[in-house]
Order: sequence, then structure tokens, then C-alpha cells
Amino acid sequence: MLILCMDGHQQLAESLSKALAAEVLPLESRHFPDGEWYFNLPANVEGEDVVVLCHLHQPNDKALGLLFMAAHLKEMGAERVGLVAPYLAYMRQDIRFQPGECLTSKYFAKLISEHFDYLVTIDPHLHRYHHLNEIYSIPTRTLHATRIIGEYLRQLSEQNPGDPLLVVGPDEESEQWAKTVATAAGCEHLVLTKTRSGDRDVAIDIPDVERYRNHLPVMVDDIISTGRTMLRTAEQLQQQGLKHPLCIGVHAVFAEGAEAEMCAGPIADIRTCNCIPHNTNQIDISYLMTPAILELILELTSSKTEATTEGKA
Ligand code: R5P
Repeated sequence: MLILCMDGHQQLAESLSKALAAEVLPLESRHFPDGEWYFNLPANVEGEDVVVLCHLHQPNDKALGLLFMAAHLKEMGAERVGLVAPYLAYMRQDIRFQPGECLTSKYFAKLISEHFDYLVTIDPHLHRYHHLNEIYSIPTRTLHATRIIGEYLRQLSEQNPGDPLLVVGPDEESEQWAKTVATAAGCEHLVLTKTRSGDRDVAIDIPDVERYRNHLPVMVDDIISTGRTMLRTAEQLQQQGLKHPLCIGVHAVFAEGAEAEMCAGPIADIRTCNCIPHNTNQIDISYLMTPAILELILELTSSKTEATTEGKA
């Protein structure tokens, strides 16, 4: 098995390579002065299983590079080409709110499905879609960082037993992970209501939480993008006299200016998983992915063997 790291996330590539006993392929990549991609892969991939690692944050340029490399690997004789995208982009435009809006989630999924044999990802934004196979036609595995985050919080609370934790999910969608995180951490959780009226326009509705004044609130969300969801939640908690919360995100997207704005607000600290490399990464998700990759390869190998046997019979 070979690993091709397309996003410069070397730390994740190295730990995957150790876990899978797979070699990381050398890749020369750069942009020509006009912005077009140049790739050179000086390696023999014939008959090999190639795992392409790419987190798809800032996806547009990366996505085109991915499609080129998938096509190239197949042409060079790779047996299977899988995509491991710890952060999967283009999942949030999952409905047409207005008749002319483009369903990018669906078209992006079609492009990836046409070029890769399988997909492994972590906490994709499944809101109106319930499963990736509603838009992806290749085998997929959706992994969750919730248990790892819960464990991280359990350790944190063992180190500070005086501060009981309260996991706060900022909106209805976060119910799914707030509950699992709280169970794994051994603490209570609370889910709030969010109204978004623009990219950076977020309002959070909060019930009476004064009874949690001695708790340390921990806001947990899948994506931190503009940071407004976290910021507005923190402000509401502060208004009711709660301590400055800790902020945990699975995907450190951080749109321009978001981190600085959050740091200036009533937030104690920001910690994220290393799906997207960022200076707030403190929670390691690398070991989540290995079993899923192996399982998918096994599945695809055995369905190919079955098909061959049937063909011979
Ligand atoms: C959306 O519904 C997600 O679960 C996150 O709450 C959202 O992406 C966060 O975005 P922002 O940081 O821009 O408020």
C-alpha cells in the first residue's frame, strides 16, 4: 500500500504510513506562473493500492489537483485509488433555498465518485443528508471524532476536578455529537438554538443556564468557520454569568479574521482536532482512519474476487 499526501499534512501522512505500514510516495508539485498545476510522481504504482490523503480545506485548487492525480494514478496502473479526506468540503450546500441555487454538494460528490474507488472522512457536515451514499456512489466510511474529544475532556476534568464540565452544542445539528462527547467525558450537555441570517450573521437562543455557574462550559461543534457560532454562544453564556467557555472544533476551517475575533471575545481557549493543520490542533485523530481504510480495501478486494469467480463459472 502507498500513501500520496496532497495537502502537505505530513504529520498525518507519517502516522498513517506507520499504522498502515505503507510508504509515502514522493511527489513534486507546483503551480506554473499562470496558476496551472504541475505534478511529477517518480514512482512505480502498478498494481498498488494508493491512499490519497487530502483534507480539502480551501478546496477549489486542491480538488482539481486531486482529480488530476487520481486519473494519473489509474493510468499508471494503480489497482485502487482511495481518498482519505479528514475534512470533506462542499457538504454545506445541501439544499436549494432559492430556485437558482447550485447544489455543489451533489456535483462535488459526483466528481469525486467518478475518480476514486472509496472515500474515508471524519465528521462530514451531514445535516439534511443523513448518509454520504445519498450523494456519493462509491463506498464510503464516515468516522466520528466525538469519542476522542470526549476522552480528551475526561482527562481534562480529571486534571481539574473542581470545575465540572458542561458540553454545549450551539445548534440543533450539534445534538448528535454533543451527547456522545458528554457521555464519553462523563458530564452533562446542553443543546442551543441557532438562527443564521447571513454568512457572518448568527443569533443564539439560550435557555436559563444559571444553575451551571460553577461549571466550565465546553462548546463543541463540527466546523469553526467564521467563528460567529462559537462567539455568539460564548457571549450568551457570559451574559448569564457562566465562566468563559472552552471552544472545541473538529474542523479548523477558520475563515479570515475568525481566530483573532474569537480570541478577543469571552472564550477561554480554542482547541481543535488535527483534521486540518492549524495552531489550535491538540486532539489527534490519526488512528481513527486506519481500520476504515483496511476494511474498505478488503471489501473491494473480496467483491472483485467474487466477480472474477462468477465470471469464470
Ligand atoms: C453549521 O451548521 C455547522 O455545524 C457549524 O455550526 C458552522 O459551520 C459554524 O460556522 P461559523 O463558524 O461560520 O459560525
